[in-house]
Amino acid sequence: MKVLVIGGGAREHALCRSLSLDPDVRELHCAPGNAGIAEVAATHPVDALDGDAVAALAEQLGLTGSDLVVVGPEAPLVAGVADAVREAGVPVFGPSAEAARLEGSKAFAKDVMATAGVPTGRSYVCTTTEEVDEALDAFGAPYVVKDDGLAAGKGVVVTDDLAAARAHALACERVVIEEFLDGPEVSLFAVTDGRTVVPLQPAQDFKRALDGDEGPNTGGMGAYTPLPWADPKLVDEVLTTVLQPTVDELRRRGTPFSGLLYAGLAITSRGVRVIEFNARFGDPETQAVLARLKTPLAGLLAAAATGQLAAFPPLRWSEGAAVTVVVASHGYPAAPRTGDPIGGLAEVAELDAPKAYVLHAGTRLDEDGRVVSAGGRVLSVTATGSDLATARERAYRAVARISLDGSHHRTDIAERAAADAAAGTGGQS
Ligand code: AMP
Ligand code: GLY
Repeated sequence: MKVLVIGGGAREHALCRSLSLDPDVRELHCAPGNAGIAEVAATHPVDALDGDAVAALAEQLGLTGSDLVVVGPEAPLVAGVADAVREAGVPVFGPSAEAARLEGSKAFAKDVMATAGVPTGRSYVCTTTEEVDEALDAFGAPYVVKDDGLAAGKGVVVTDDLAAARAHALACERVVIEEFLDGPEVSLFAVTDGRTVVPLQPAQDFKRALDGDEGPNTGGMGAYTPLPWADPKLVDEVLTTVLQPTVDELRRRGTPFSGLLYAGLAITSRGVRVIEFNARFGDPETQAVLARLKTPLAGLLAAAATGQLAAFPPLRWSEGAAVTVVVASHGYPAAPRTGDPIGGLAEVAELDAPKAYVLHAGTRLDEDGRVVSAGGRVLSVTATGSDLATARERAYRAVARISLDGSHHRTDIAERAAADAAAGTGGQS
């Protein structure tokens, strides 16, 4: 089949890498892509947010009902890009704009969860100052204040400072104020065709910019899988209590969700709670999760896109672990600097592949054909190994070969989980 991937970050590079390894994929395209994706797919300069332009590209590339479009990021999904392609008769992996509201509106997600009986933090949706003050008072510190719309990870403030919580709430048009959920976080992805739900392996990401979970929130600075500290029954439990009821409720409402359902979970002392849903693969967890998936990816995504998941064979995973370390540009996340040359890519390809490799996030080729930084998160260095400690070591060895002026990365990705796994104590990172 022919596959067209929409997006241009490290998640899309991971998707394209896996798709390029699938023997059923005859032609691989990506729009807009980046400098790394261009090595495994034909890239096309199309505006990912423009559904008509994406549908036109699919047609121009000759995609038909037996091919596949995969939409990576949330913004095109919320903008209805999957709908436009589906209307053009090409199967799409990615939900409709209606179903993507599960990510696009926190209030909508809360309503779905309430109806479906899915465990989540108690919350209030507020639009007036009085409502905000009442809600903050009802919950007390630490305060959790979430902008209702899509905010690229910047809409959520968690703070002990009442004035800061109040200021953020009043700056939002509509805000969700929520109970604080204590406990480690887990990202669990599931592929669904709107009826059948197939969970992937759980992962954990690292949202803060600096070691020890210090510094500002980011889009994610690293990830690992599996989670040696998690209850082996976690995935089954989340399937039964969260994923399946949510998919069933969206189908019941007449807006079935097909694509990737991402549950951001808190494992609290009172049980599993949903922190948020996303309507797409998470970044950077996808880079680690796909590194261990042995089932050919295109067949899986195509089965979801065409409603055939019930007949799909069980997923196969490699034993062992995968770790992803994000290399971020100078000034990320506040004021990322771009245009800096990136060195060491050839060395990693020569000395570390295939067990460690570099996925590109914000990169492009400059006029001289050099790879330069083009965004805040620049690279996702990913490695596999028989255990977390080995995967970590390989990932950091590859990171050390990369040169990017002023760049920074966390040095503690999967550190605690690897140490706990080695000691057999099963602690949590
Ligand atoms: P989100 O954009 O919804 O993923 O939120 C960003 C981050 O804020 C999450 O990954 C959590 O670390 C934190 N967060 C969100 N909601 C809560 C909550 N109810 N309690 C504690 N932390 C939260
Ligand atoms: N890993 C966080 C996200 O993709 O939203």
